[in-house]
Amino acid sequence: MCGIVAAVTQRNIINFLLKSIQKLEYRGYDSSGLALINSNNHLIRIRSVGKVNELIKKTKNKKLFGKIGVAHTRWATHGRVSKENTHPHVSSHITIVHNGIINNSLELRLFLEKKGYIFNSDTDTEVIVHLIHWEQKKTGKSLLEAVYNSLIKLNGNYSMVIMDTNNISKLIAVCSGSPLVIGLGSKENFIASDQIALLNVTKRFIYLKEGDIAIIKPEKIKIFNKKYLIVNRKIIHSNLKYEHSKKGKYKYYMEKEIYEQPMSIENTIKNYLKNNTSIYFKKLGKKEKNIFLHLEHIQIVACGTSYHAAMVSKYWFESLANIPCDVEVASEFSSRKLVVRKKSYFITLSQSGETADTLIALRIAKKLNYLGNLAISNMPNSSLVQESDTFLLTHAGIEIGVASTKSFTTQLIVLLMLVTKIISIKQKKNQIEKKIIKILTILPNTIKNFFEKNKEIKNIAKKLSNKKNMLFLGRGIQYPIAMEGALKVKEISYIHAEAYPSGELKHGPLALIDSNMPVIIIAPKNSLIEKTKKNIQEIDARGGVIYILSDEEINISKNIKILKMPYIDEIVAPIFYIIPLQLLAYYIALSKGTNIDQPRNLAKSVTVE
Ligand code: F6R
Repeated sequence: MCGIVAAVTQRNIINFLLKSIQKLEYRGYDSSGLALINSNNHLIRIRSVGKVNELIKKTKNKKLFGKIGVAHTRWATHGRVSKENTHPHVSSHITIVHNGIINNSLELRLFLEKKGYIFNSDTDTEVIVHLIHWEQKKTGKSLLEAVYNSLIKLNGNYSMVIMDTNNISKLIAVCSGSPLVIGLGSKENFIASDQIALLNVTKRFIYLKEGDIAIIKPEKIKIFNKKYLIVNRKIIHSNLKYEHSKKGKYKYYMEKEIYEQPMSIENTIKNYLKNNTSIYFKKLGKKEKNIFLHLEHIQIVACGTSYHAAMVSKYWFESLANIPCDVEVASEFSSRKLVVRKKSYFITLSQSGETADTLIALRIAKKLNYLGNLAISNMPNSSLVQESDTFLLTHAGIEIGVASTKSFTTQLIVLLMLVTKIISIKQKKNQIEKKIIKILTILPNTIKNFFEKNKEIKNIAKKLSNKKNMLFLGRGIQYPIAMEGALKVKEISYIHAEAYPSGELKHGPLALIDSNMPVIIIAPKNSLIEKTKKNIQEIDARGGVIYILSDEEINISKNIKILKMPYIDEIVAPIFYIIPLQLLAYYIALSKGTNIDQPRNLAKSVTVE
């Protein structure tokens, strides 16, 4: 949440700052700002409410110049959306951009006000910058020491970059509970919350670790760990290309990411196949094999879309592997007394690997009696991956649209392959593994062919775009798919959409049914379809507007519209049935004209609790 970019170079960096901060808009887009030190050593600060485009407009025709600077895009936490609350914040010669939350900011603010500091914003960030200024004034020591002494007084999670007009050759970066990556250039260096902001200037990166403080100069970088000792951090060569972060022929990233799914699914499957005949997780060694052999319970924790993927896997763990599995929303997992089941293994799921709720749940789980823990993430250098015993990657590629799509389907692929591998290890035979590999291999093409149906989905979407409410129903393993479909609609079209297990409707929500209530029912032909048909009749009898996704001919009433689905094996049906729901949500939002990639009030990576 919130995006930071900064640079210390030998050239004018205004265009770099604007272009790069725009790449981080997915992290927050309430307001944005930048600060540069110009050739006269003066600070130039420009801030604007709204998207980065507003900031770009403000910088036009200003002939800005600076070789060192910081920029920020904000997702408001402390203080409403206003110009005053927009970063960078300044205290005399010190400027700061910050991502995260300072829990004891009120107390520190009162202290600093007593020392004579006047606050111009409601943010916790302004508290930090005044605190650093006060520490330096008090001791007369270096900015680095002032930063270090201030950090000791802060309680919360943060990453920040500090710039000083009294010392224009360096930036100080601090990383604690929120990611920061240094991009290495030739006689220039960069900092950002995510490497995608830096792909147009470098391919070499250093990920700061929890508690690191870095001094970044054009030709040199020095990193101190939380004990204030100098450390060397690994340089990573990224194979991501700047083009990967572009929309290409698509209007929105979400559209691109939906249509990329056959490829991202295929990439993920291939990554975990050996000779196309067996599942091979390079990252999981003897230790995990032993755990898989003996585990008797799985606990999965995640948020939002990742939580829905985890819910699907519960059905796979229980029905295919016969292993009891509990799934919980991360913020709830860390809000109660926990009883750990016997021989339980802990799994987290997170596209970004930075979701604060999920990270906190992992930290709690690590202190409990689990056999071990595993993270499934799309981000190889994320905090979750670094803090977990081991990890599996989803290989979805960069996902920029705030509403998750390809990360969901690739999470399902990894989870299904994991369930399958555990079955093979426990049963010491691999018939199921062979069967599932076959089913998985044909999935990408089935999805590709299905995209031809998008016209039909667009027509349904047009009819639904003026509705105020929608219901999504699913039974068994399709219930989490109904939940995910409803979440997609809510997020990007702002239509109130709820999901229910089909059988639960008659226990209350049936009262909502009338001719204004569209009901989307996921009903693949399986052992549950006869029960679902009864639910469909109950809705039809009450005048509900019904849309069914099914591969079965359902002739209950003329009023029912059916989106005919091709046959798909029951095991992978949830991975397939989410595709029409993603498209439906996308085309509803397109008809409504909302900002699909940046829905109001949201941000992609939620790094606050
Ligand atoms: C929904 C969505 C969110 C995320 C949730 C968890 O489209 O994107 O609900 O799924 O914030 O994010 P990760 O997976 O990064 O932990």
